[in-house]
Amino acid sequence: MPGAPPEGQPVPADGALPDGASTRVGVAPFGIYIHVPFCATRCGYCDFNTYTAAELGGGPRESYVDLAIGEIRLARRVLGAASLPVSTVFVGGGTPTLLAPGELGAILAAVDGEFGLAPGAEVTTEANPESVDQRALAGLRQAGFTRVSFGMQSAVPHVLATLDRVHTPDRPARAAKWARAEGFGQVSLDLIYGTPGESDEDWRRSVEAALAAEPTHISAYALIVETGTRLAAQIRRGQIAEPDDDAMADRYLAADDLLTAAGLTWYEISNWAADPAARCRHNLAYWTGGDWWGIGPGAHSHVAGTRWWNVRHPRDYAARLAAGVSPGQAREVLTEAERRTEQIMLATRLAGGCPAALLPESGRAAAERAVADGLAEPAAWRRRRVVVLTRRGRLLADAVIRDLTG
Ligand SMILES: C[S@@+](CC[C@H](N)C(=O)[O-])C[C@H]1O[C@@H](n2cnc3c(N)ncnc32)[C@H](O)[C@@H]1O
Ligand code: SF4
Repeated sequence: MPGAPPEGQPVPADGALPDGASTRVGVAPFGIYIHVPFCATRCGYCDFNTYTAAELGGGPRESYVDLAIGEIRLARRVLGAASLPVSTVFVGGGTPTLLAPGELGAILAAVDGEFGLAPGAEVTTEANPESVDQRALAGLRQAGFTRVSFGMQSAVPHVLATLDRVHTPDRPARAAKWARAEGFGQVSLDLIYGTPGESDEDWRRSVEAALAAEPTHISAYALIVETGTRLAAQIRRGQIAEPDDDAMADRYLAADDLLTAAGLTWYEISNWAADPAARCRHNLAYWTGGDWWGIGPGAHSHVAGTRWWNVRHPRDYAARLAAGVSPGQAREVLTEAERRTEQIMLATRLAGGCPAALLPESGRAAAERAVADGLAEPAAWRRRRVVVLTRRGRLLADAVIRDLTG
Protein backbone atom coordinates (compact mmCIF):
# COMPACT_ATOMS: atom_id res chain seq x y z
CA MET A 1 0.00 0.00 0.00
CA PRO A 2 2.58 2.54 -0.99
CA GLY A 3 1.85 6.26 -1.14
CA ALA A 4 -0.14 8.42 1.24
CA PRO A 5 -3.91 7.84 1.14
CA PRO A 6 -6.16 10.85 0.50
CA GLU A 7 -7.42 12.75 3.52
CA GLY A 8 -11.02 11.45 3.34
CA GLN A 9 -13.88 11.81 5.80
CA PRO A 10 -13.94 10.41 9.34
CA VAL A 11 -15.11 6.83 9.93
CA PRO A 12 -17.73 6.63 12.74
CA ALA A 13 -16.56 4.96 15.96
CA ASP A 14 -18.74 1.91 15.34
CA GLY A 15 -17.47 1.60 11.73
CA ALA A 16 -21.01 1.89 10.27
CA LEU A 17 -21.24 2.35 6.49
CA PRO A 18 -22.87 5.53 5.11
CA ASP A 19 -26.69 5.67 4.92
CA GLY A 20 -28.06 3.66 2.04
CA ALA A 21 -24.93 1.53 1.56
CA SER A 22 -26.38 -1.45 3.41
CA THR A 23 -28.85 -2.14 0.58
CA ARG A 24 -25.87 -2.74 -1.73
CA VAL A 25 -23.97 -5.07 0.62
CA GLY A 26 -23.74 -8.55 -0.89
CA VAL A 27 -24.40 -7.44 -4.48
CA ALA A 28 -20.75 -7.92 -5.55
CA PRO A 29 -18.67 -10.99 -4.61
CA PHE A 30 -17.13 -10.53 -1.16
CA GLY A 31 -13.48 -11.05 -0.21
CA ILE A 32 -11.38 -10.54 2.90
CA TYR A 33 -7.79 -9.27 2.94
CA ILE A 34 -5.75 -9.77 6.11
CA HIS A 35 -2.60 -7.70 6.50
CA VAL A 36 0.20 -9.11 8.65
CA PRO A 37 2.49 -6.12 9.27
CA PHE A 38 5.63 -7.90 10.45
CA CYS A 39 8.93 -8.83 8.78
CA ALA A 40 12.12 -10.36 10.20
CA THR A 41 14.18 -7.72 8.36
CA ARG A 42 13.19 -4.96 5.95
CA CYS A 43 14.25 -5.30 2.31
CA GLY A 44 15.86 -2.08 1.07
CA TYR A 45 13.37 -1.51 -1.77
CA CYS A 46 10.16 -2.13 0.18
CA ASP A 47 7.88 0.58 1.56
CA PHE A 48 4.99 -1.66 2.58
CA ASN A 49 3.38 -1.07 5.96
CA THR A 50 5.48 -3.57 7.86
CA TYR A 51 7.68 -3.52 10.97
CA THR A 52 10.59 -5.52 12.35
CA ALA A 53 10.54 -6.72 15.98
CA ALA A 54 13.09 -4.01 16.86
CA GLU A 55 10.88 -1.31 15.35
CA LEU A 56 7.85 -2.55 17.31
CA GLY A 57 9.42 -3.45 20.64
CA GLY A 58 6.91 -6.27 21.29
CA GLY A 59 3.25 -5.52 21.97
CA PRO A 60 0.97 -5.87 18.96
CA ARG A 61 2.91 -8.82 17.49
CA GLU A 62 2.06 -11.09 20.44
CA SER A 63 -1.63 -10.25 20.40
CA TYR A 64 -2.01 -9.93 16.64
CA VAL A 65 -4.23 -12.97 16.08
CA ASP A 66 -6.72 -11.69 18.67
CA LEU A 67 -6.62 -8.20 17.15
CA ALA A 68 -7.33 -9.51 13.64
CA ILE A 69 -10.15 -11.69 14.95
CA GLY A 70 -11.51 -8.61 16.77
CA GLU A 71 -11.72 -6.70 13.50
CA ILE A 72 -13.33 -9.68 11.71
CA ARG A 73 -16.08 -9.61 14.37
CA LEU A 74 -16.43 -5.85 13.95
CA ALA A 75 -16.84 -6.40 10.17
CA ARG A 76 -19.63 -8.88 10.82
CA ARG A 77 -21.43 -6.41 13.11
CA VAL A 78 -21.10 -3.57 10.58
CA LEU A 79 -22.25 -5.65 7.63
CA GLY A 80 -25.30 -6.99 9.48
CA ALA A 81 -26.73 -10.46 9.39
CA ALA A 82 -27.07 -10.74 5.59
CA SER A 83 -25.67 -13.89 4.03
CA LEU A 84 -22.21 -12.86 2.84
CA PRO A 85 -20.18 -15.94 1.95
CA VAL A 86 -16.51 -15.14 1.44
CA SER A 87 -15.34 -16.03 -2.08
CA THR A 88 -11.67 -15.20 -1.53
CA VAL A 89 -9.34 -14.65 1.40
CA PHE A 90 -5.85 -13.20 0.91
CA VAL A 91 -3.35 -12.98 3.74
CA GLY A 92 -0.58 -10.57 2.75
CA GLY A 93 2.15 -8.58 4.31
CA GLY A 94 4.63 -8.03 5.56
CA THR A 95 5.42 -11.66 6.14
CA PRO A 96 2.28 -13.63 7.07
CA THR A 97 4.38 -16.73 7.66
CA LEU A 98 6.04 -15.10 10.66
CA LEU A 99 2.78 -16.25 12.29
CA ALA A 100 2.60 -20.01 12.89
CA PRO A 101 0.27 -22.06 10.63
CA GLY A 102 -2.02 -22.55 13.62
CA GLU A 103 -2.24 -18.76 14.15
CA LEU A 104 -3.08 -18.12 10.49
CA GLY A 105 -5.54 -21.03 10.73
CA ALA A 106 -7.23 -19.38 13.75
CA ILE A 107 -7.74 -16.16 11.76
CA LEU A 108 -9.15 -18.14 8.84
CA ALA A 109 -11.45 -20.08 11.18
CA ALA A 110 -12.78 -16.74 12.48
CA VAL A 111 -13.56 -15.63 8.91
CA ASP A 112 -15.34 -18.93 8.33
CA GLY A 113 -17.17 -18.71 11.65
CA GLU A 114 -18.41 -15.14 11.15
CA PHE A 115 -19.18 -15.14 7.43
CA GLY A 116 -18.76 -18.69 6.10
CA LEU A 117 -16.37 -19.52 3.29
CA ALA A 118 -18.12 -19.98 -0.07
CA PRO A 119 -17.79 -23.46 -1.59
CA GLY A 120 -14.51 -23.57 -3.55
CA ALA A 121 -13.26 -20.35 -1.93
CA GLU A 122 -9.73 -19.28 -2.90
CA VAL A 123 -7.66 -18.91 0.28
CA THR A 124 -4.18 -17.47 -0.34
CA THR A 125 -1.29 -16.64 1.90
CA GLU A 126 1.89 -14.86 0.91
CA ALA A 127 4.99 -16.56 2.26
CA ASN A 128 8.63 -15.58 2.42
CA PRO A 129 10.60 -18.58 1.21
CA GLU A 130 12.98 -18.57 4.19
CA SER A 131 10.10 -18.44 6.67
CA VAL A 132 8.48 -21.76 5.70
CA ASP A 133 9.52 -25.39 5.49
CA GLN A 134 7.59 -28.39 4.26
CA ARG A 135 5.99 -28.95 7.67
CA ALA A 136 4.73 -25.38 7.88
CA LEU A 137 3.26 -25.69 4.40
CA ALA A 138 1.52 -28.92 5.42
CA GLY A 139 0.08 -27.02 8.40
CA LEU A 140 -1.17 -24.20 6.20
CA ARG A 141 -2.81 -26.66 3.81
CA GLN A 142 -4.46 -28.40 6.75
CA ALA A 143 -5.71 -25.06 8.08
CA GLY A 144 -7.60 -24.52 4.81
CA PHE A 145 -5.24 -22.49 2.63
CA THR A 146 -5.57 -23.42 -1.06
CA ARG A 147 -3.02 -21.09 -2.64
CA VAL A 148 0.42 -19.85 -1.65
CA SER A 149 2.41 -16.98 -3.14
CA PHE A 150 6.16 -16.88 -2.52
CA GLY A 151 8.35 -13.80 -2.81
CA MET A 152 11.17 -15.14 -4.99
CA GLN A 153 12.31 -11.88 -6.68
CA SER A 154 15.41 -13.39 -8.34
CA ALA A 155 17.52 -16.53 -8.56
CA VAL A 156 20.81 -14.66 -8.91
CA PRO A 157 22.94 -14.08 -5.78
CA HIS A 158 24.18 -10.55 -6.55
CA VAL A 159 20.64 -9.40 -7.45
CA LEU A 160 19.24 -10.87 -4.24
CA ALA A 161 22.03 -9.12 -2.34
CA THR A 162 21.17 -5.72 -3.90
CA LEU A 163 17.55 -6.33 -2.92
CA ASP A 164 18.62 -7.30 0.65
CA ARG A 165 16.87 -10.66 0.31
CA VAL A 166 17.94 -13.08 3.00
CA HIS A 167 17.03 -16.40 1.33
CA THR A 168 19.37 -18.54 -0.75
CA PRO A 169 18.75 -18.45 -4.53
CA ASP A 170 17.30 -21.96 -4.68
CA ARG A 171 15.02 -21.68 -1.65
CA PRO A 172 11.90 -20.27 -3.40
CA ALA A 173 11.85 -23.07 -5.98
CA ARG A 174 12.25 -25.64 -3.20
CA ALA A 175 9.43 -24.04 -1.25
CA ALA A 176 7.20 -24.11 -4.34
CA LYS A 177 7.88 -27.81 -4.78
CA TRP A 178 7.10 -28.51 -1.12
CA ALA A 179 3.84 -26.61 -1.51
CA ARG A 180 2.84 -28.75 -4.49
CA ALA A 181 3.81 -31.91 -2.60
CA GLU A 182 1.61 -30.84 0.33
CA GLY A 183 -1.42 -30.47 -1.92
CA PHE A 184 -1.52 -26.76 -2.79
CA GLY A 185 -3.31 -26.65 -6.14
CA GLN A 186 -2.21 -23.08 -6.80
CA VAL A 187 1.35 -21.87 -6.27
CA SER A 188 2.60 -18.45 -7.32
CA LEU A 189 6.05 -16.87 -7.43
CA ASP A 190 6.77 -13.11 -7.38
CA LEU A 191 9.73 -11.84 -9.41
CA ILE A 192 11.26 -8.36 -9.64
CA TYR A 193 13.07 -7.14 -12.77
CA GLY A 194 15.29 -4.16 -13.43
CA THR A 195 17.33 -4.31 -10.22
CA PRO A 196 20.50 -2.22 -10.75
CA GLY A 197 23.32 -4.54 -11.79
CA GLU A 198 20.96 -7.20 -13.15
CA SER A 199 21.89 -8.25 -16.71
CA ASP A 200 19.57 -9.63 -19.41
CA GLU A 201 21.15 -13.02 -18.73
CA ASP A 202 20.54 -12.72 -14.95
CA TRP A 203 16.88 -12.00 -15.61
CA ARG A 204 16.55 -14.91 -18.04
CA ARG A 205 18.10 -17.19 -15.39
CA SER A 206 15.61 -15.98 -12.79
CA VAL A 207 12.56 -16.50 -15.01
CA GLU A 208 13.82 -19.95 -16.03
CA ALA A 209 14.48 -20.90 -12.40
CA ALA A 210 10.95 -19.80 -11.51
CA LEU A 211 9.47 -21.83 -14.37
CA ALA A 212 11.52 -24.88 -13.40
CA ALA A 213 9.66 -24.92 -10.07
CA GLU A 214 6.43 -25.45 -12.07
CA PRO A 215 4.27 -22.79 -10.42
CA THR A 216 0.72 -22.24 -11.70
CA HIS A 217 1.15 -18.45 -11.55
CA ILE A 218 3.94 -15.89 -11.79
CA SER A 219 3.88 -12.16 -11.02
CA ALA A 220 6.73 -10.08 -12.46
CA TYR A 221 7.08 -6.51 -11.22
CA ALA A 222 9.35 -3.72 -12.39
CA LEU A 223 11.48 -2.55 -9.47
CA ILE A 224 10.00 0.69 -8.16
CA VAL A 225 12.37 2.96 -6.24
CA GLU A 226 10.05 4.09 -3.46
CA THR A 227 10.80 7.39 -1.74
CA GLY A 228 12.20 7.00 1.74
CA THR A 229 13.56 3.47 1.25
CA ARG A 230 17.16 2.42 1.81
CA LEU A 231 17.43 1.71 -1.92
CA ALA A 232 16.38 5.29 -2.75
CA ALA A 233 19.08 6.61 -0.37
CA GLN A 234 21.75 4.34 -1.91
CA ILE A 235 20.83 5.62 -5.38
CA ARG A 236 20.86 9.23 -4.19
CA ARG A 237 24.35 8.75 -2.75
CA GLY A 238 25.52 7.18 -6.02
CA GLN A 239 26.27 3.80 -4.40
CA ILE A 240 23.77 2.03 -6.66
CA ALA A 241 22.84 2.96 -10.23
CA GLU A 242 19.30 4.02 -11.07
CA PRO A 243 17.08 1.40 -12.78
CA ASP A 244 17.11 1.92 -16.54
CA ASP A 245 13.78 2.34 -18.38
CA ASP A 246 14.94 0.69 -21.63
CA ALA A 247 16.31 -2.30 -19.73
CA MET A 248 12.96 -2.53 -17.88
CA ALA A 249 11.07 -2.73 -21.17
CA ASP A 250 13.45 -5.40 -22.55
CA ARG A 251 13.07 -7.44 -19.38
CA TYR A 252 9.29 -7.26 -19.53
CA LEU A 253 9.27 -8.52 -23.12
CA ALA A 254 11.79 -11.26 -22.32
CA ALA A 255 9.61 -12.38 -19.39
CA ASP A 256 6.50 -12.40 -21.56
CA ASP A 257 8.31 -14.50 -24.20
CA LEU A 258 9.66 -17.03 -21.71
CA LEU A 259 6.45 -17.32 -19.71
CA THR A 260 4.26 -17.61 -22.80
CA ALA A 261 6.55 -20.28 -24.29
CA ALA A 262 6.19 -22.22 -21.03
CA GLY A 263 2.39 -22.14 -21.28
CA LEU A 264 1.61 -19.24 -18.91
CA THR A 265 -0.66 -16.53 -20.32
CA TRP A 266 -0.86 -12.91 -19.20
CA TYR A 267 -4.19 -11.88 -17.71
CA GLU A 268 -3.06 -8.63 -16.08
CA ILE A 269 -0.01 -6.62 -17.11
CA SER A 270 2.20 -8.07 -14.34
CA ASN A 271 0.52 -11.46 -13.92
CA TRP A 272 0.63 -14.72 -15.88
CA ALA A 273 -1.32 -17.93 -15.17
CA ALA A 274 -1.15 -21.53 -16.39
CA ASP A 275 -4.90 -21.59 -17.04
CA PRO A 276 -7.95 -19.48 -16.17
CA ALA A 277 -8.44 -21.37 -12.88
CA ALA A 278 -4.90 -20.37 -11.83
CA ARG A 279 -5.61 -16.62 -12.03
CA CYS A 280 -5.70 -14.92 -8.63
CA ARG A 281 -9.43 -14.51 -8.06
CA HIS A 282 -8.87 -12.22 -5.08
CA ASN A 283 -6.85 -9.71 -7.11
CA LEU A 284 -9.28 -10.01 -10.03
CA ALA A 285 -12.05 -8.95 -7.64
CA TYR A 286 -10.01 -5.81 -6.74
CA TRP A 287 -9.66 -5.03 -10.42
CA THR A 288 -13.29 -5.64 -11.39
CA GLY A 289 -15.23 -3.77 -8.71
CA GLY A 290 -15.62 -6.50 -6.09
CA ASP A 291 -16.25 -5.79 -2.41
CA TRP A 292 -13.64 -6.58 0.21
CA TRP A 293 -12.90 -5.85 3.84
CA GLY A 294 -9.23 -5.28 4.66
CA ILE A 295 -8.30 -6.44 8.16
CA GLY A 296 -5.19 -5.06 9.90
CA PRO A 297 -3.08 -1.90 10.23
CA GLY A 298 -3.15 0.24 7.08
CA ALA A 299 -5.47 -2.20 5.28
CA HIS A 300 -7.82 -0.74 2.67
CA SER A 301 -11.46 -1.79 2.22
CA HIS A 302 -14.11 -1.27 -0.43
CA VAL A 303 -17.70 -2.20 0.31
CA ALA A 304 -20.83 -1.05 -1.52
CA GLY A 305 -19.21 2.04 -3.07
CA THR A 306 -17.40 3.21 0.11
CA ARG A 307 -13.63 2.99 0.47
CA TRP A 308 -11.80 3.31 3.76
CA TRP A 309 -8.36 2.65 5.18
CA ASN A 310 -7.20 1.72 8.66
CA VAL A 311 -4.71 3.54 10.87
CA ARG A 312 -1.23 2.48 9.79
CA HIS A 313 0.69 1.78 12.98
CA PRO A 314 0.06 -1.55 14.75
CA ARG A 315 0.05 0.21 18.14
CA ASP A 316 -2.67 2.68 17.07
CA TYR A 317 -4.59 -0.19 15.51
CA ALA A 318 -4.41 -2.21 18.74
CA ALA A 319 -5.43 0.82 20.84
CA ARG A 320 -8.52 1.46 18.69
CA LEU A 321 -9.70 -2.14 18.88
CA ALA A 322 -9.00 -2.31 22.63
CA ALA A 323 -11.24 0.77 23.07
CA GLY A 324 -13.99 -0.88 21.00
CA VAL A 325 -13.55 1.70 18.24
CA SER A 326 -13.26 1.06 14.49
CA PRO A 327 -9.63 1.14 13.29
CA GLY A 328 -10.81 3.01 10.17
CA GLN A 329 -8.79 6.22 9.83
CA ALA A 330 -10.80 7.85 7.04
CA ARG A 331 -13.10 7.02 4.15
CA GLU A 332 -14.47 8.32 0.88
CA VAL A 333 -17.49 7.61 -1.27
CA LEU A 334 -16.52 7.74 -4.93
CA THR A 335 -18.58 9.84 -7.32
CA GLU A 336 -19.93 8.15 -10.42
CA ALA A 337 -17.24 9.92 -12.52
CA GLU A 338 -14.42 8.81 -10.19
CA ARG A 339 -15.72 5.27 -10.22
CA ARG A 340 -15.82 5.29 -14.03
CA THR A 341 -12.21 6.55 -14.28
CA GLU A 342 -11.06 3.90 -11.88
CA GLN A 343 -12.84 1.18 -13.85
CA ILE A 344 -11.09 2.29 -17.04
CA MET A 345 -7.70 2.31 -15.31
CA LEU A 346 -8.14 -1.20 -13.93
CA ALA A 347 -9.91 -2.84 -16.90
CA THR A 348 -7.33 -1.60 -19.40
CA ARG A 349 -4.59 -3.45 -17.50
CA LEU A 350 -6.47 -6.75 -17.90
CA ALA A 351 -6.26 -9.08 -20.90
CA GLY A 352 -10.06 -8.91 -21.01
CA GLY A 353 -9.67 -5.22 -21.81
CA CYS A 354 -11.76 -2.08 -21.37
CA PRO A 355 -15.18 -1.93 -23.07
CA ALA A 356 -15.95 1.19 -25.14
CA ALA A 357 -19.09 1.65 -23.05
CA LEU A 358 -16.91 2.76 -20.10
CA LEU A 359 -15.05 5.39 -22.14
CA PRO A 360 -15.91 9.08 -22.49
CA GLU A 361 -16.11 10.38 -26.06
CA SER A 362 -12.50 11.62 -25.92
CA GLY A 363 -11.51 8.15 -24.69
CA ARG A 364 -13.07 6.49 -27.74
CA ALA A 365 -11.04 8.74 -30.00
CA ALA A 366 -7.97 7.83 -27.90
CA ALA A 367 -8.80 4.14 -28.40
CA GLU A 368 -8.83 4.66 -32.18
CA ARG A 369 -5.40 6.32 -31.92
CA ALA A 370 -4.09 3.49 -29.73
CA VAL A 371 -5.17 0.97 -32.38
CA ALA A 372 -3.56 3.05 -35.16
CA ASP A 373 -0.33 3.31 -33.10
CA GLY A 374 -0.16 -0.45 -32.52
CA LEU A 375 -0.87 -0.10 -28.80
CA ALA A 376 -4.31 -1.78 -28.81
CA GLU A 377 -5.50 -4.88 -30.68
CA PRO A 378 -7.37 -3.85 -33.87
CA ALA A 379 -9.64 -6.92 -33.99
CA ALA A 380 -10.82 -6.58 -30.37
CA TRP A 381 -11.65 -2.89 -30.93
CA ARG A 382 -13.34 -3.26 -34.32
CA ARG A 383 -15.30 -6.44 -33.64
CA ARG A 384 -16.05 -6.20 -29.92
CA ARG A 385 -15.45 -2.51 -29.08
CA VAL A 386 -12.97 -3.46 -26.35
CA VAL A 387 -9.52 -1.90 -25.80
CA VAL A 388 -7.07 -4.79 -25.36
CA LEU A 389 -3.43 -3.74 -25.06
CA THR A 390 -0.86 -5.21 -27.44
CA ARG A 391 2.56 -6.14 -26.05
CA ARG A 392 3.86 -2.67 -26.93
CA GLY A 393 0.71 -1.21 -25.41
CA ARG A 394 1.41 -3.04 -22.17
CA LEU A 395 4.83 -1.34 -22.02
CA LEU A 396 3.14 2.05 -22.44
CA ALA A 397 0.01 1.25 -20.42
CA ASP A 398 0.17 4.35 -18.20
CA ALA A 399 0.22 6.70 -21.21
CA VAL A 400 -2.58 4.79 -22.99
CA ILE A 401 -4.72 4.89 -19.83
CA ARG A 402 -4.14 8.65 -19.42
CA ASP A 403 -5.50 9.16 -22.94
CA LEU A 404 -8.44 6.81 -22.47
CA THR A 405 -9.63 8.48 -19.28
CA GLY A 406 -9.75 11.85 -21.12
C1 LIG B 1 4.11 -7.24 0.05
S1 LIG B 1 5.33 -8.14 -0.74
C2 LIG B 1 5.07 -9.53 0.30
C3 LIG B 1 5.82 -10.75 -0.05
C4 LIG B 1 6.78 -11.26 0.97
N1 LIG B 1 6.90 -10.44 2.11
C5 LIG B 1 8.14 -11.37 0.34
O1 LIG B 1 8.79 -10.34 0.23
O2 LIG B 1 8.53 -12.49 0.02
C6 LIG B 1 4.63 -8.61 -2.28
C7 LIG B 1 5.52 -8.43 -3.46
O3 LIG B 1 5.61 -7.06 -3.81
C8 LIG B 1 6.75 -6.89 -4.62
N2 LIG B 1 7.37 -5.60 -4.26
C9 LIG B 1 7.50 -5.06 -3.05
N3 LIG B 1 8.13 -3.86 -3.13
C10 LIG B 1 8.42 -3.64 -4.44
C11 LIG B 1 9.07 -2.60 -5.19
N4 LIG B 1 9.57 -1.53 -4.58
N5 LIG B 1 9.17 -2.73 -6.54
C12 LIG B 1 8.65 -3.81 -7.16
N6 LIG B 1 8.06 -4.83 -6.50
C13 LIG B 1 7.92 -4.76 -5.17
C14 LIG B 1 7.67 -8.08 -4.37
O4 LIG B 1 7.74 -8.86 -5.54
C15 LIG B 1 6.94 -8.84 -3.28
O5 LIG B 1 7.11 -10.22 -3.40
S1 SF4 C 1 9.97 -9.38 3.22
FE1 SF4 C 1 8.41 -8.66 1.72
S2 SF4 C 1 7.09 -7.25 2.87
FE2 SF4 C 1 8.92 -7.62 4.13
S3 SF4 C 1 10.27 -5.94 3.68
FE3 SF4 C 1 10.80 -7.59 2.23
S4 SF4 C 1 9.49 -7.29 0.39
FE4 SF4 C 1 8.70 -6.00 2.06
